[in-house]
Amino acid sequence: MKITVLHGSPKGDISVTMQYIRFLQQQFPEHTFTVWQIAQQSRLIEQDEARFKDILRNVAEADGILWSFPLYYYLVPAQYKRFIELIRERQAEEYFQGKYTAVLTTSIHFFDHTAHNYMHAIADDLAMKYYGGYSAAMQDLLQTAGQQRLTLFARNFLAAIASAQATAKAYLPLIPVTHAYTPALSQPPLDPQGRKILILHDALPSQTNLTNMLTAYAASYSQKPDIINLRDLSIKGGCLGCIRCAYDNTCVYGNKDDFITFFNTKVKPADIIIMAGAIHDRYLSSRWKTFFDRSFFNNHVPALKGKQLGFIVSGPLAQLTNLRQILEAYTELQEANIAGIVTDEPESAASIDKLLYQLAKTGIEHSLQNYLQPPSFLSVGGHKIFRDAIWGELRFPFIADHQYYKQNGRYDFPHRQYASRLFAAILSVAAKLPFIRRQLYSEQIKEHMIKPFQRIFQ
Ligand SMILES: Cc1cc2nc3c(=O)[nH]c(=O)nc-3n(C[C@H](O)[C@H](O)[C@H](O)COP(=O)(O)O)c2cc1C
Repeated sequence: MKITVLHGSPKGDISVTMQYIRFLQQQFPEHTFTVWQIAQQSRLIEQDEARFKDILRNVAEADGILWSFPLYYYLVPAQYKRFIELIRERQAEEYFQGKYTAVLTTSIHFFDHTAHNYMHAIADDLAMKYYGGYSAAMQDLLQTAGQQRLTLFARNFLAAIASAQATAKAYLPLIPVTHAYTPALSQPPLDPQGRKILILHDALPSQTNLTNMLTAYAASYSQKPDIINLRDLSIKGGCLGCIRCAYDNTCVYGNKDDFITFFNTKVKPADIIIMAGAIHDRYLSSRWKTFFDRSFFNNHVPALKGKQLGFIVSGPLAQLTNLRQILEAYTELQEANIAGIVTDEPESAASIDKLLYQLAKTGIEHSLQNYLQPPSFLSVGGHKIFRDAIWGELRFPFIADHQYYKQNGRYDFPHRQYASRLFAAILSVAAKLPFIRRQLYSEQIKEHMIKPFQRIFQ
């Protein structure tokens, strides 16, 4: 069988994920795995129409398509996302239609599910037959169990193609926002009270809803906020995954483009940051993705700690719970607060006006109060993954992270808690006696749980 591998690591052949592909090539010599270095050669593929067509031809001839990539910021790398955008922009969907497909990723399992959800939805949008996803931890393949599991996954994928196995769609097509938004209300301008407000966006002139939302938001203030269009910055390319930054947060791009200076001098000093963009496929644009990927020079340190973040989105975000979760998780992991998310989905312009004004107001109020929402599973879970990885297998090369985690109490383990461990040990033994057990697992246990709260009411 012919399998086309669309590989999404900017590192090309010298990529961890690529070793998984090489393993499959070795395991299944009777099948052909043709690899295209999509992310590494993304610029060439975009500029050279013939190269793009070669890939499409190979896709058309294939029995199955394997999307393989490393997790980058909750999703695929920006360069890979650009390729996905090109499929739609160049109306090449028909090449993918009806093809069996699977997804293979490597990561540290930090929001691998959102990347897989995204790719599943993209496959559904392309009318492909989505077989399933395989999310490997970086080192999985080094263990026999990991090798056996990957082999089984691939064997089952190939068998599914051979037997024309039924596949189910998980995502409905998006219903786009078609109504035009023009600001209708004007409300008394808000005093920013010394807060630095930054609006980051990637609006194209044709995106009038987005541009109008930005204008209305900015007009909420008595002083004009800083507004930066990411498309006006010189950004030479996406993150290369070289990890040069892991030693001391120095990016390999250095001063070759605007990004690092922009991030350090504009983004970091702001108190309130509005991130605004339009939906492209099932995320924001690849330009926005480049912003997130390139911010990796901060590694796993919350560079936007304590800030108020707001999102202004043009497009059907209510149908994209995966993207909403990514925005929420990004904010929480930055130890920032979500001041609000406003979209152009409401049909009434006045409703959007009010929501934008409220976003402006909440941003200032919460910033003055230093209000941060309590962490949810998104960041509690995320933190534990980072903590364990940086303590262990990622301590080298992530030396700067290790210093930060040590100095800022991020290594909140092992959980000594000697008093509660002793208490638990005694009660666990006591509970073996039926008459004590009856007492313990009675009203007493409920009373015991609320006892520590008594002192705050005294
Ligand atoms: C810019 C960047 C962003 C990353 N984001 C994530 C992430 O969101 N979740 C995760 O689990 N791993 C993340 N990683 C780790 C990579 O997914 C992981 O190291 C992967 O195995 C690299 O594969 P490759 O060598 O094939 O590029 C990120 C790495 C980089 C460089």
